[in-house]
Amino acid sequence: MNRTLAIIKPDAVEAGHLGAIIQQLEEASFRVRAVSMRHLTREQAESFYAVHSERPFYGSLVEFMTSGPCAPMVLDGEDAVSRLRTVIGATDPNEAEEGTVRERFAESKERNAIHASDSPENARREIGFFYSEAELLGLKAG
Ligand code: CMP
Repeated sequence: MNRTLAIIKPDAVEAGHLGAIIQQLEEASFRVRAVSMRHLTREQAESFYAVHSERPFYGSLVEFMTSGPCAPMVLDGEDAVSRLRTVIGATDPNEAEEGTVRERFAESKERNAIHASDSPENARREIGFFYSEAELLGLKAG
């Protein structure tokens, strides 16, 4: 078992796909340990995606991620980090396998419905970005 962070992005929230995506993740044996709606500030989006700050799409990505509410969530599951990346599919929905979250719900390479941590180290950092240890402990105990 391990733990990862997903963010259902503003395009999918706006389109009303929040419930369908959470259902798909639960049916894929992920358990939701924390979930909330957030409207990211520019500062938060810039910091979360700082690793991409030199990329040409960075400004547009920050613009998109602050354009409306998103839903960061902590997911537990067997081999959660790598398995979630398989379940969500390739960054570009045109390259995502059939039945993956991005193939079903993403609009484009940027407006791609969902984010998932790419390593256990980044998962720890990204979970800490949105949730305090106390919030996760409270949920674990429950
Ligand atoms: P995500 O998994 O959140 O990680 C970085 C994000 O940058 C990615 O999903 C996309 O939303 C976006 N992204 C990555 N590559 C490109 C690209 N070539 N053009 C536009 N957006 C991109």
